[in-house]
Amino acid sequence: MTTSTPSARERLVLPLDVPTLSEARALVAELSGEVGVFKVGLELFTAEGPRAVEAVLDAGARCFLDLKLHDIPATMAGAVRSAVRLGVHYLTLHAAAGPEGLARSAEAAAGSDTTLLAVTVLTSMDAAQLAATGHAEPPASLVERYAALAIESGVPGLVCSPEECRALRARFGEGPVLMVPGIRPAGSDVGDQKRIATPAEAIAAGASLLVVGRPIRAADDRVAAARAVVAEIQGALS
Ligand code: C5P
Repeated sequence: MTTSTPSARERLVLPLDVPTLSEARALVAELSGEVGVFKVGLELFTAEGPRAVEAVLDAGARCFLDLKLHDIPATMAGAVRSAVRLGVHYLTLHAAAGPEGLARSAEAAAGSDTTLLAVTVLTSMDAAQLAATGHAEPPASLVERYAALAIESGVPGLVCSPEECRALRARFGEGPVLMVPGIRPAGSDVGDQKRIATPAEAIAAGASLLVVGRPIRAADDRVAAARAVVAEIQGALS
C-alpha cells in the first residue's frame, strides 16, 4: 500500500467499461498520460481475464481490479493472493462477506502493493431492495456498520458515494482510502447516476480517489476532458 500523498493525476480513476481488450488498450494508450489508475471491472475481466490487467500495468499505469469479492473466507483469501500476484494496486470485496472473510483477505494482502477496498451497500440498493434481503436498517446506517466492520477487520479502504464521504471521514478520520464514483464535472451529462458531486466537491468532502467514466470516455476530446478533471482536483487540493 502506498503511503505518500497522491498527486491530482494519481487520484483520477478511469473505468474501462468496455467489453474487449482492444477497446481497453485503445483507452489506456490514449489516456495513460492523464489518468493515474484504470479500473478493470467484471465485464472486461470476465471477457479478457488477466490480460486486461496486464494492458494497464504495461502502460505504466496503476490498476484497480473491481471484482467485488464475496465468498467463503478461504476462497476470498485465495482470490486476494492471485490479485496480489497479478500486481493490481486496488481490489474490491464486499463488507457483507463478514469479519472472518475480511480479516483473511486483509492478511492475504498484508505487505503487498495491493490496497483492499470494501464495498458497503451497493448504490443500487434502496430501502425496499434492502428489506427484501432481510435488512430492516436504513441504508445510511448500514453503510456505517459495514464500513466499521471492514476497517476493524483490517481492510484499509472503502468504496462510497460522494454523499457518504463526510460522515465516513467524521467517524473514521483521515486513515481510510475513499474510492468515490458518481462524479460529474459541472455541465456534464448525469446519465444514470443519482447521487453525484463535482470533482472539487468530492475532494472537499474527503474523497481520496475519483472514478470518472462517461464524462471522459464520451467527450469529443478525451485528453482535454481528463486534464480538466485533474485541474479541478488540483484546485480543490490546494
Ligand atoms: O461512467 P460513470 O462515471 O458513471 O462510471 C462510474 C463507474 O463506477 C462505473 O464503472 C460504475 O460501475 C462504478 N460504480 C458506480 N457506483 C458504485 C460503484 C461503482 O458508479 N456505487
